[in-house]
Amino acid sequence: MSSRILSVEDINVYYGAIHAIKDVSFQVDEGEIVALIGANGAGKSTTLKTLSGLLRSQTGSIEFLGENIMHVPADKLVARGLAHVPEGRRVFAQMTVEENLQMGAYTRPASEIEPGLERVYTHFPRLQERRRQVAGTLSGGEQQMLAMGRALMSSPKLLMLDEPSMGLAPILIEQIFQIVKELHEAGTTILLVEQNAQMALSIASRAYVMETGNITITGTGDELLHNDEVRKAYLGG
Ligand SMILES: Nc1ncnc2c1ncn2[C@@H]1O[C@H](COP(=O)(O)OP(=O)(O)OP(=O)(O)O)[C@@H](O)[C@H]1O
Ligand SMILES: [Mg+2]
Repeated sequence: MSSRILSVEDINVYYGAIHAIKDVSFQVDEGEIVALIGANGAGKSTTLKTLSGLLRSQTGSIEFLGENIMHVPADKLVARGLAHVPEGRRVFAQMTVEENLQMGAYTRPASEIEPGLERVYTHFPRLQERRRQVAGTLSGGEQQMLAMGRALMSSPKLLMLDEPSMGLAPILIEQIFQIVKELHEAGTTILLVEQNAQMALSIASRAYVMETGNITITGTGDELLHNDEVRKAYLGG
C-alpha cells in the first residue's frame, strides 16, 4: 500500500469578502499524479498557494508527510520537500540557467548540487545546451522547463505544477507533458493544476474537478475522461 503524502481536510480561503475555497478536501498518495482541473477562477491556484503557505486557511487541516503544516512558513516547506512551480513560471531573469538551478537547491547540502544538475539535465537536455544563457532571454517553453528544473533541485517529495502548459504551442505542450510523465516514472509524486483537461486526465492517476471553490467531481483520470459532465464542460463534448 502506498503512503499518504498530502491530506487536505475542509480548508476555506478568502480574499477579503471573496470566498475562494469552500470546504475543500483531497489527498495525494506517494507515486501518484493527481490532477486538479477546472475553469478560470475555480480556485486551483489559490489551493496550491494555500498548500505552499502563501495563503492561509481559517479552518480544517493540511497534513504533509503526516505533519500539520498549516502554520509552517512557506520557506520552511521547501526544505521539507514541498515544491511549487507557480503560474507564469517566474525565473530569475538576470541569472543564467545554471545559476537559477543552483538557487533551487538552496535548502540542500552543497554536495547535492552537482548530482541535482545532472538529473535535471537528463530530463531537460535543452537546459543543458542553454546553461550559460541568461534566463530572461529563454523562450516561454524553456522558461517553463527551467522553473520545473529549479523546483526539482530541491529534491521534492511533492512537486506542485500550476498550469505548466499555459501559453505554449501544441508541440511544446506535448513535450512538457512528456517530461511530467518521465518525472513521475522516475519516482516524483505530482500535483498538477491544468486547464488542459484532456492532457492532464490522460496522465493522471486520479483527478479532482473544481468549480467556483468547490470540488465537485472526483475519480481516476480515466473515469473522468469518460464522465459525461466532464466531457461536456471541459473536453469539448
Ligand atoms: N489576490 C486576489 N484578490 C482577490 N481575489 C482573488 C485574488 N486572487 C484570486 N482571486 C479570486 O479567487 C478566485 C480563484 O482564483 P484562482 O486564481 O485560484 O483561480 P484558478 O482556478 O487558478 O483560475 P485560472 O485557471 O484562471 O488560473 C477567483 O474568483 C479570483 O478572481
Ligand atoms: Mg490559476
